[in-house]
Amino acid sequence: MTLDLARLMSSDGPDKYDLHNRYLNSQMVKVLRTIGFDRNYVRGQGQYLYDQDGHEYLDLLSGFGTFAIGRNHANVIAALQEVLGGGLPNLVQLDVSVLAGVLAERLLDYMPGLDKMFFCNSGAEAVEAAIKFARFATGRPRILFCDHAFHGLTNGALSLNGEKTYRAGFEPLLPGCTPIPFNGLERLEEELARGEVAAFIVEPIQGKGVTMPVGDYLREAAALCRKYGALFVADEIQTGVGRTGRFLAIEHWGVDADMVLLAKALSGGFIPVGAVAAKKWVYDKVFDRMDRAVVHGSTFAKNDMAMAAGLATLEVIETENLIRHAEEIGNGIMADLGSMVGRHEFVKEVRGKGLMIGIEFDKPRSLGLKAAWALLEQARKGLFSQMIIIPLMQDHRILSQVAGDNMNVIKLLPPLTINDTDRAWIREGFEAAIVDAHRVPGALWDLGRSLAGGGMKARVGAA
Ligand SMILES: Cc1ncc(COP(=O)(O)O)c(C=O)c1O
Repeated sequence: MTLDLARLMSSDGPDKYDLHNRYLNSQMVKVLRTIGFDRNYVRGQGQYLYDQDGHEYLDLLSGFGTFAIGRNHANVIAALQEVLGGGLPNLVQLDVSVLAGVLAERLLDYMPGLDKMFFCNSGAEAVEAAIKFARFATGRPRILFCDHAFHGLTNGALSLNGEKTYRAGFEPLLPGCTPIPFNGLERLEEELARGEVAAFIVEPIQGKGVTMPVGDYLREAAALCRKYGALFVADEIQTGVGRTGRFLAIEHWGVDADMVLLAKALSGGFIPVGAVAAKKWVYDKVFDRMDRAVVHGSTFAKNDMAMAAGLATLEVIETENLIRHAEEIGNGIMADLGSMVGRHEFVKEVRGKGLMIGIEFDKPRSLGLKAAWALLEQARKGLFSQMIIIPLMQDHRILSQVAGDNMNVIKLLPPLTINDTDRAWIREGFEAAIVDAHRVPGALWDLGRSLAGGGMKARVGAA
């Protein structure tokens, strides 16, 4: 039997929902059906998805931040085709690869304070490496992380997860991992002073809730880590590679990190990749002798396809000036959406940097709306924001996500390639959905009631 991929993926192919129901995660199918996200996408290009009827969708989720340069970028495809057709001696293992060397050099050019690079296959693997490197380099066992943090779902990364829902039932996790408040310098210093802390791992902007660092929090946190001999590790897996209008988000606050973690966008949306940039002394402590040359690693790390995807992605980001663009258009979108604060009920705040944007909702002032809100939020906190992403999809073909459980925040992580037409699409879509929410009774609140009545337990999005 020859593999006929074209048929499998055509409308004559098998029913994907049926397959997933039977063999994969049937709960995911249930979620998609409940919220009407069960589309049949057949194509993706740039910031757009297309369904089988030719409808165009604006993707503000971008695979949880992976498609920073958009889907199916021709330059990345060309680079990957060159690798595929090149008959390269990939993954020899007892060898070193030129592509990995060049990608390391290019990436470190963006990070003047860091000297060495470790490649792996995902964000969570980068976090695992950082935990091991920090413990080994400092000789200390403890890792500090933040309440509501998200660093991935493998065992070590989960040990640094600030949400009960993710951790429950998977314990015991790694010993020596302690949560502290994000933006809480006092608790950080208290824990550092207790000693034995190898590292503090933090997202510069928390994915959950798009929570911003206040004032000089990050710089002061890094200084405290240095004072007490702990490493400051910036998890830039979501914020990095240009998303916030700088190559790294920590650049906004002039922070000098001991390690920086990347993944998602570096893949070009094609080949999974993770990266840990580290100070030389940290790296050299771990890989300190010939018999320890393979003391940490992974079989598929540094594979040619991933390295080429990373190199091509950086080139696209540079030639299309996407980092500057992310800052400019992000500011424009935040201004558009921010203009709803005060003008419309429910919209409490719009915040973010570049193209990592959070829209927070809060209870309305007027009496009729207050009662409807209270009923919905009693059923499940955060249901209002879930109720808004549904008409965004159904009526405006905008794919978006909520920024976490038990909170009313929608998060936008669009490709950095979005343009002024998309900006108008976002402005008009949100405006219409929010205006609709003012109609009580109305179709939107009927939908909210049915979500609440159906015991809507689905969280549409990740941290
Ligand atoms: C900040 C952060 N760290 C780590 C991860 C984990 O990355 P991965 O899903 O590639 O394991 C994520 C994924 O969403 C993330 O946002």
